[in-house]
Amino acid sequence: MGKTTSSSGGKQGLGWMEWLRGWLYVIYEMLFQRISASHLQNPLPLPPLHDLTCIITGSTSGIGLQIARQLAEAGAHVVMAVRNSKAANDLIQKWQSEWSGKGLPLNIEVMELDLLSLDSVARFCEAWNARSAPLHVLINNAGIFSIGEPQKFSKDGYEEHMQVNHLAPALLSILLLPSLIRGSPSRIVNVNSVMHYIGFVDTEDMNVVSGKRKYTSLVGYSSSKLAQVQFSSVLHKRLPAEAGVSVVCVSPGVVQTNVARDLPRIVQAAYHLIPYFIFTPQEGSRSALFAATDPQIPEYCEMLKADEWPVSAFISQDCNPTNPSEEAHNIETSYRVWEKTLELIGLPLDSVERLIEGEEVKCRYGGQAEE
Ligand SMILES: NC(=O)c1ccc[n+]([C@@H]2O[C@H](COP(=O)([O-])OP(=O)(O)OC[C@H]3O[C@@H](n4cnc5c(N)ncnc54)[C@H](OP(=O)(O)O)[C@@H]3O)[C@@H](O)[C@H]2O)c1
Repeated sequence: MGKTTSSSGGKQGLGWMEWLRGWLYVIYEMLFQRISASHLQNPLPLPPLHDLTCIITGSTSGIGLQIARQLAEAGAHVVMAVRNSKAANDLIQKWQSEWSGKGLPLNIEVMELDLLSLDSVARFCEAWNARSAPLHVLINNAGIFSIGEPQKFSKDGYEEHMQVNHLAPALLSILLLPSLIRGSPSRIVNVNSVMHYIGFVDTEDMNVVSGKRKYTSLVGYSSSKLAQVQFSSVLHKRLPAEAGVSVVCVSPGVVQTNVARDLPRIVQAAYHLIPYFIFTPQEGSRSALFAATDPQIPEYCEMLKADEWPVSAFISQDCNPTNPSEEAHNIETSYRVWEKTLELIGLPLDSVERLIEGEEVKCRYGGQAEE
């Protein structure tokens, strides 16, 4: 925190009131999520989804695993986009045998994707787009929160939370636009977090290395989640209604998953002791499933586009639309995050417009880059 504006007038951090309000949101969600979501069924009932093709990143554990399984059981063609193909194939085998006798075999496949490598992301998109098949739902679920660990960088040179939680999903979303437009009406669902309320993105220091802010995993995580909301806001504003692609961020709630695997043992033990407050992964999957399937979402997104503030739809853990943080409403920063992100992921600034026109866009990463 500290000084909140630079001499040039640019903001350098959250004001203390914003920071305090942010923490209140986080604490409120932790304590009251079960009460505020008490109207929801568990699992969330889904309509038949036989006409949908859905890509879900990070579907080998936690929330993503639940999303993949439930979408597949509702009849969708599910693509598990994962870095551990063996784990995904083992899961498919298990789900198929548990499902046998209840209907047609589940329509699930595995494709390899490592978000710590932007080459891997670009290659994944090249492979998917080469099918010339429609894509109806992309769920950017995979994420990391390396609590208490020292700062780490991907081989692309980016701070790992920023890369896995924001930059790589941003590249995936843009490069898959041709398939999403083919599948329109379609949706990009970003599994975000209430933690974005305490995040701040310094576009001059996305890697948090300048020393202006002390790096902690909380800074890395919350900034990456805010960057995703800000980027999503500009993306949704840039996509014309005719493209038919809705962009939604969701908060899953506080969920008992492997995300806690890096916590100190004693904190992990405490985590297990408070099951009343913490959602199961199935409960945590409801907001993403709602955003992926509720029929009113496209209309809601279009309504938001007409707003003075171009902020993307944000669905809370109780499946109600909510306002993202004050900082997410900062248009100036959101556009800076948009431009900086495109620069870091190696795409031209007019990528979205060109892809909508059906033109090719060259990316610094992936097979194209080597031609
Ligand atoms: N749990 C919570 O309380 C909570 C709260 C708010 C938001 N969220 C968000 O919810 C999302 C899902 O998290 P979760 O709680 O379900 O955590 P999780 O159980 O740890 O699952 C994360 C998934 O992401 C995958 N992943 C991690 N790094 C990857 C990479 N480099 N490339 C490809 N896949 C990668 C993991 O694959 P591997 O198994 O191969 O590592 C795993 O399948 C995340 O975006 C998280 O930030 C969670």
